[in-house]
Amino acid sequence: MGRYVVVTGGSRGIGREIVARFAALGDDVIAIARDAAALREVAAEHPGSVRGIECDLAEPDRVVALMRGFDEVDVLVNNAGVADSAPLHRTSLECWQRLLAINATAAFLCTREVIVGMRERDRGRIITVASTAGRVGAAYASAYAASKHAAVGLMRSAAAELRGTGVTANAVCPAYADTEMTAASIERIAQRTGRSRDDGAVALASTSPLGRLLAPGEVAAAVTWLASPEASSINGQTLILDGGGIQT
Ligand SMILES: NC(=O)c1ccc[n+]([C@@H]2O[C@H](COP(=O)([O-])OP(=O)(O)OC[C@H]3O[C@@H](n4cnc5c(N)ncnc54)[C@H](OP(=O)(O)O)[C@@H]3O)[C@@H](O)[C@H]2O)c1
Repeated sequence: MGRYVVVTGGSRGIGREIVARFAALGDDVIAIARDAAALREVAAEHPGSVRGIECDLAEPDRVVALMRGFDEVDVLVNNAGVADSAPLHRTSLECWQRLLAINATAAFLCTREVIVGMRERDRGRIITVASTAGRVGAAYASAYAASKHAAVGLMRSAAAELRGTGVTANAVCPAYADTEMTAASIERIAQRTGRSRDDGAVALASTSPLGRLLAPGEVAAAVTWLASPEASSINGQTLILDGGGIQT
């Protein structure tokens, strides 16, 4: 479709699948992450369509400088994210700040930097990959849930400011997906409870009515649809991908 698309966290997991789908649609895609080798691999998979740019999204000055270097972003996907888990009373300030920095502040900065140009052109899509934990509280995930609620609030507020324009801002809220992030969660469960990894995987899968992990492609499909012309009436929504556990 020839759009200029920026995907944060495009080096692996859900973001990598989002990058692949936009590239397949004929868009020019910028994938942002820290892992230079993984970014090179992603770019090599889509020659001429995808460029990887190394950036630590926890560094606000770098994020702003990077985003100011892009002109005419048509689609911004705030996908980069980090997770951690602990009971609230054992959640460190460092963990809280790290999750807020990447899951919420980086999404804020990227959105702030593209929104003016999008409004001027009266065209654009901003999509944030939040989580079901952006719509409901989750035990042992206070920092993650707070950061994802912030990301959802950011999209809803952006959407309120964008009413009546050709620009939309929405969030997708997946349940657990089959990625390295979830593999790390399963590993933490195994280490902290002594349960097997298989039991940990079943425990996570059973937190939603789906009873299974989402495939990254299911999330990516929702993102590319929200970026499509047919989704121009959708603004300020949170598309929940959990098999119907959370009804809004
Ligand atoms: N997996 C799930 O079950 C699940 C469920 C609901 C929502 N989500 C959300 O979906 C999004 C993608 O998750 P995923 O499962 O695909 O995770 P993942 O496999 O761990 O990938 C995370 C991506 O974010 C990037 N990233 C992390 N920290 C970064 C930083 N400081 N600077 C730049 N990039 C950074 C990573 O790249 P580098 O490490 O190379 O920097 C990677 O590309 C996240 O926002 C996550 O919260 C995931």
